[in-house]
Amino acid sequence: MKLALGLAVCTLFMGAVLWAQSDDFAEYQGWMKSNGATVADLNKNLTAKDGAAAHADVRKLQENLAMVMAYWQSRNVNDGVRFALDATYGLAQVDVLVTQKKFDDAAAALKTAQASCGNCHMAHRDKAPDGSFKIKLK
Ligand code: HEC
Repeated sequence: MKLALGLAVCTLFMGAVLWAQSDDFAEYQGWMKSNGATVADLNKNLTAKDGAAAHADVRKLQENLAMVMAYWQSRNVNDGVRFALDATYGLAQVDVLVTQKKFDDAAAALKTAQASCGNCHMAHRDKAPDGSFKIKLK
């Protein structure tokens, strides 16, 4: 009886751990899907010289990156934190140039910021055979 109870508790606990992991991943993936869509939107708004919409996109990206940075920080992965910070600084540049209505320079600065997205993808993103992405912690 005790053993059966112990096993049941154990199974429940493992289920919770697995669930927490996949839940974590879904949340992370949500930030990344939002990043992809928002960068595309930002590019469109820079071309259209829509300053207000561009500022809103930058804010959204920086919000996502703050969560991403915390994710890597809590796992003690320093280069992940660094890439998220670099992208955040790069977007701050974009923001300043938008305020100055230098939309072409802002588009160039966005390309530079995206290099930091790419650096983290090279270090920490794995492509599964089915084309989906995974997180590589090391
Ligand atoms: C600190 C690391 C890091 C940074 C910075 C980062 N990414 Fe990611 N990104 C990942 C990882 C890991 C994955 C794989 C997991 C996933 O799909 O969410 C990923 C996946 C993605 C995906 C695919 C999402 C999917 O599963 O369909 C897109 C799009 C994306 N990132 C865009 C961006 C953009 C745009 C930026 C910069 C504004 C950025 N990322 C910055 C680590 C990062």
